[in-house]
Amino acid sequence: MNVLLVGSGGREHALAWKLAQSPLLTKLWAAPGNPGIARHAEIADIAANDHRGLIDFCLRHSISFVVVGPEAPLVEGLADNLRTMGIGVFGPNKFPAQLEGSKGFTKDLCARENIPTAGYVRCETRDGALACLEDFGLPVVVKADGLAAGKGVTVAFTTEEAEGAIADIFSGHGASVVIEEFLEGEEASLFVLTDGTSLMPFGSAQDHKRVGEGDTGPNTGGMGAYSPAPVLTAELEARAIDEIVRPTVEALARQGNPYSGVLYAGLMLTAQGPKLIEYNARFGDPECQVLMPRLQSDLLDYFIACDRGTLGTMAAPRFSDETALTVVMAAQGYPGTPQTGGAIGGLDAAEAGGARVFQAGTRLDDGKLVASGGRVLAVTATGPDVRAAQAAAYRAVDAIDFPTGFCRRDIGWREVEREEA
Ligand code: AMP
Ligand code: GLY
Repeated sequence: MNVLLVGSGGREHALAWKLAQSPLLTKLWAAPGNPGIARHAEIADIAANDHRGLIDFCLRHSISFVVVGPEAPLVEGLADNLRTMGIGVFGPNKFPAQLEGSKGFTKDLCARENIPTAGYVRCETRDGALACLEDFGLPVVVKADGLAAGKGVTVAFTTEEAEGAIADIFSGHGASVVIEEFLEGEEASLFVLTDGTSLMPFGSAQDHKRVGEGDTGPNTGGMGAYSPAPVLTAELEARAIDEIVRPTVEALARQGNPYSGVLYAGLMLTAQGPKLIEYNARFGDPECQVLMPRLQSDLLDYFIACDRGTLGTMAAPRFSDETALTVVMAAQGYPGTPQTGGAIGGLDAAEAGGARVFQAGTRLDDGKLVASGGRVLAVTATGPDVRAAQAAAYRAVDAIDFPTGFCRRDIGWREVEREEA
């Protein structure tokens, strides 16, 4: 089977690496890809939002299956457009992808289905939102309603901060805001494959969203992650599936808009049990970079089953018991304006010790690898526990020569502290 992978980040490099190992694969293409992805796939220079261009390319190259990495094309209906043309897709259609595309859609679904999540109000005007603030204590969470690459959320510790966040949202393109109760607990990510009917747990992870050490500073797309997440015990995972994921999948199917693909539940493990913070309609980035190295089963086989509705006939996927940990190396300036063009070297030395460097924001400049985005590399290693995986990942980081880059030195710290206790 010829397969096209859509996307160009570290998540897609991890997917390309794993897909390329599939016995079901004839040829892997990637659009628009990056130099790391080009080691596993032939690159097609088509943007992820060029639906017409992607469909034409599939028809011309006998591509019968497309794996969509990022959320934006899904929220814009790429999966629907491909399916209309008879092309199989890993990823949900536009309607169910609203689970990620619209926080209001998700919160309303949770309310109807009694799914545990933070109490909320959805406001369409600035004055309405300001008035609603009075009903919440502090801290309070203010979210723009729409895709914001992890940056549309403010956890406000003062009323002034909350009012400022609301003003920002209504002064930009935003026309709708969700105000939420602050949930206390530890966050964990749960990945579940579904074909709309059957559910298949597909691993857990924890990421570090803040740019600074000790989880401080502005939010980012994620500065590092590890898998599995020991805090998400088998019992809590079962509760999250029964109380959160299954009712969501069933509600969408009942409405005639079944969800197929991976559902990524961002959970808060509160004293009352797991509560939903948000859904994503795709794998996490950098969580995917720690799931794929642990996956021992054929990824493509599961992706196809999600699309064809045959997930119920498959055995549970096998994941290694090892821990995988990834450290994101970002360009200075991130999550603000990153400094691009900085030279990157030493990747072979980093991988010589068994680590794997997934490329995110990279490009070739006169044949030389340089930084082209905020998050540039995801340096990933495995080990028998978090401490060992962390040590191996930082050994690889230290072998990389990227003077205009930076990384956090404490990825995995919570788990390392627990392991040492
Ligand atoms: P989201 O984009 O909804 O995942 O929010 C980004 C981050 O903001 C989450 O990963 C949490 O760290 C934090 N957050 C969002 N909603 C809440 C909430 N209701 N209570 C506490 N923290 C939250
Ligand atoms: N790492 C968080 C995300 O992919 O949304």
